[in-house]
Amino acid sequence: MIKASAPGKLYIAGEYAVLEPGHPALIVALDQFITVTLKEADTQGSICSSYSNGISIPWTRKNGKFYIDERENPFSYITKSVTLVEQYLLELGYDLKYFDLTIESELDNKDGRKYGLGSSGAVTIATIKAILSLYEINYTSELLYKLAAITHLSLNSNGSFGDLAASSYGGWIAYSCFEKNWVIKQLKEKSPIRQLVEQEWPKLRIQPLKAPADLRLLIGWTGSPASTTSLVDQLNDEQNEIHDFYHQFLEDSYRCVMWIIDAFKESDIKKIQQGIRINRHLLKSLAEKSRVNIETEALTDLCNIAEEFQGAAKSSGAGGGDCGIVLFNQQEEILPMINAWKEKGIVDLPLQVYKEKMTDYEPIIWED
Ligand code: PMV
Ligand code: MG
Repeated sequence: MIKASAPGKLYIAGEYAVLEPGHPALIVALDQFITVTLKEADTQGSICSSYSNGISIPWTRKNGKFYIDERENPFSYITKSVTLVEQYLLELGYDLKYFDLTIESELDNKDGRKYGLGSSGAVTIATIKAILSLYEINYTSELLYKLAAITHLSLNSNGSFGDLAASSYGGWIAYSCFEKNWVIKQLKEKSPIRQLVEQEWPKLRIQPLKAPADLRLLIGWTGSPASTTSLVDQLNDEQNEIHDFYHQFLEDSYRCVMWIIDAFKESDIKKIQQGIRINRHLLKSLAEKSRVNIETEALTDLCNIAEEFQGAAKSSGAGGGDCGIVLFNQQEEILPMINAWKEKGIVDLPLQVYKEKMTDYEPIIWED
């Protein structure tokens, strides 16, 4: 039996701008996981998760390819991951096996309410890890990220795939998305996956960052779920209308996140906090111009309360609900803030940044 886990994520800075290739975001992996259990099977396989209400859905192969009745498929991220990894395995010359998959998630709360911690990214990474392990293939974080990104690309995701980078690398990362059109072109030209994952992808940058020892991250949950896909769609619809403003926003966000990345390298907490405040301001003006509700009233309460207690706060990710983040210096008292949050119905999520292994912090070059 094989067990593979992948962590959830949280955006710290650079949201929306990161949708543009080459524009950096700061993201962390969290110690809440999706775990995939894989058991080899004989003549057919099955998948079972909370998405199927705990019921096992069978799958088989048609003409040597993974096949599940689409009418019975509540988990497209899992099935696309299997299809893509099996294509990769065939190219490497492996004979395919059947298996039963069970998926367990800590990324939603007990009533099934969503925190917005990236379950679609984590389930993709954990599934890919489990299958590669079945064939005893050693994998790097980069290979996991690239296979997962191709999977999400073929599901027409409108995201930046930063969730996949955080979930496969762990810790704090600076991330910029690759040129999607370039990868789509390779796929259309039937470039083998084996070859594609070995190539350099234009504009893709994933740089692990070392957080200052005294930097403390707090996460506040507003209790109302938000859909990243639809918020990003809303912004895309508005983009032409606010073309000049958006261009300036991209440039300002680029400079702001690069400033925060420098502050990480200098271990300068005050400078990091300053960057977070500037990024909140940039996102607020984007929300105002585009009329996309990024910092909701609850998120404004969350941020303003945090600021009263010396924290630097902003909405996290697409906003519109879900979570906000606060960065503190470890020396500061945080209990009074958590109590003030409680009065406004904001829940402190007691989560930590997750790091799997020793990380190489070699700086990489960012360019436009
Ligand atoms: O709301 P989240 O945590 O899924 O973050 C979305 C961040 C965006 O930049 C708005 C979209 C993306 O895919 O990068
Ligand atoms: Mg969200």
